[in-house]
Amino acid sequence: MNGISVGILGTGKYVPERRLTNQDLEQMVDTNDEWIVTRTGIRERRIAAPEQATSDLAYEASVQALKSAGITADELDLIIVATITPDMFFPSTACLLQEKLGAKKAAAFDLSAACSGFIYGLANANALIATGMYRHVLVVGAECLSRITDYTDRNTSILFGDGAGAVVLGHVPEGRGFKSFKLGADGAGGDLLRICGGGSRLPSTEQSVSDRRHFIEMNGRDVFKFAVRVMGSAAEEALSSAGYEKADIDLLIPHQANIRIIQSALERLNLSEDKAMINLDRYGNVSAASIPLALAEAVEQGRVNEGDCLVLVGFGGGLTWGASVLIW
Ligand SMILES: CC(C)(COP(=O)(O)OP(=O)(O)OC[C@H]1O[C@@H](n2cnc3c(N)ncnc32)[C@H](O)[C@@H]1OP(=O)(O)O)[C@@H](O)C(=O)NCCC(=O)NCCS
Repeated sequence: MNGISVGILGTGKYVPERRLTNQDLEQMVDTNDEWIVTRTGIRERRIAAPEQATSDLAYEASVQALKSAGITADELDLIIVATITPDMFFPSTACLLQEKLGAKKAAAFDLSAACSGFIYGLANANALIATGMYRHVLVVGAECLSRITDYTDRNTSILFGDGAGAVVLGHVPEGRGFKSFKLGADGAGGDLLRICGGGSRLPSTEQSVSDRRHFIEMNGRDVFKFAVRVMGSAAEEALSSAGYEKADIDLLIPHQANIRIIQSALERLNLSEDKAMINLDRYGNVSAASIPLALAEAVEQGRVNEGDCLVLVGFGGGLTWGASVLIW
């Protein structure tokens, strides 16, 4: 990528206070802590308070990201919120966030690419800044997955949680910033992970609600196989289009769905586990919020240094996937 160098100026995160532990889930569905930990690596997730919606979580993360970038909300040109759990159909969560932040000069839209949404959002923001159209773009991944999770289904209820992560993108010195993006989609696998109820195909009715069609439906085994295949290949393709090698990676920021999926990506990239940021044990899968939340925590923990080569990689419903190489 030539021309203006675009990178991350600041990061922020927010997770709700309430914890849902594996022991709590044992009381709700036929499962146990040992099964969940060995099959997924997850120990607990955060659950939004009843009065909190996605834009509230997004707001907290965004305030932090703006502060860490050292800019004010009125310097934002665009807000992109990646989410599959918007506050409502419309207005977009990005518009609700724009109002909460007082980002009066910013355009705003939501982006739907499930767990890959944050990487898709970064790619869009990067392109809009690189062309000179915008100077500062806020990209947020925020989810209240607890609102679309069926807590009578042991296959899915153990996986998901709530939270938000945000970044501000802008100009960075030459040589730094985003070096490549690799985005992909395969609509043929759309039925592996979806919510059917409440859309234009199956509008909400008493029947659709009693059939539980407004909750996540997932074919876990097939999603797992897809994830294992695509995490490594997307990361490799992003590296090669940036002109970097696997050995150049200082830190991998993977989508936090399952520790075994992350381990297989590490294996394919010849990386040891200490080269990956892992926080799924504490938050579970937070869809579009996973990667920015992991990135913000990595920064907080001092695991990211100037000049480091980061690879961000994720996959999700759609099916979709995305990877990016970023020099910090
Ligand atoms: C969901 C997932 C953890 C299941 O793990 P798995 O090793 O594939 O387990 P399986 O689905 O093969 O199930 C193995 C057994 O455990 C059982 N099981 C499933 N969920 C269980 C639970 N929460 N507790 C206890 N047992 C469970 C199954 O019923 C099955 O029993 P059976 O052999 O008697 O039929 C795993 O497939 C996964 O992580 N998939 C990807 C999901 C994902 O990332 N989704 C979001 C994408 S962004």
